[in-house]
Amino acid sequence: MTSATIALRELERATNACRECPLGERATQSVLGEGPVRACLMVVGEQPGDKEDQEGRPFVGPAGRLFDRAVAELGWSREKLYVTNAVKHFKYELRGKRRIHKTPAQREADACLHWLESEIALVRPAALIALGAVAARSLLGRRVPVRRERGRWHEGAVGRRVLVTLHPSALLRGDPEQKVAAWTAWIEDLSLASQIFD
Ligand code: URA
Repeated sequence: MTSATIALRELERATNACRECPLGERATQSVLGEGPVRACLMVVGEQPGDKEDQEGRPFVGPAGRLFDRAVAELGWSREKLYVTNAVKHFKYELRGKRRIHKTPAQREADACLHWLESEIALVRPAALIALGAVAARSLLGRRVPVRRERGRWHEGAVGRRVLVTLHPSALLRGDPEQKVAAWTAWIEDLSLASQIFD
């Protein structure tokens, strides 16, 4: 096992014990990233959802399935990507027995940023993809109007290039009549990162 792999396991233990914000107390567990420790492309989402919280793995729920479809359409392989989130614990509100996703507050994303920075420092990807506003804010260090700034590379505050695009749940929630156009535009955004594999 390489020292970076050991350090990532240590990071996983540390995020699990993290109580720097209130989210860790209510979540089942933290969800750290997954993928090769030296992946050239890191994909950053917002936070684990209900399924991710239960399984302890990122992007395994409905948003993850859509992301997997995009990966297949792009001819990428998920095994080559390091997939993680800006926030490591699931934030939700209870409606009856259902746990409904709540967007993390800025202070919660800020509290989590050093964990994401540690992952980036260990994996050292050539570039990153920010899926949605929370990830973009963490990686660029400023508020990012995603619909205006999507589909191009930005200089990340993390010292690496960051491609900004929509979060897959924005496509899941979007206007059904615009579904095909939204999908095509999303794939077009993501395809800019294909050059990383060349
Ligand atoms: N949404 C995210 O941003 N990340 C996940 O891991 C799952 C859903």
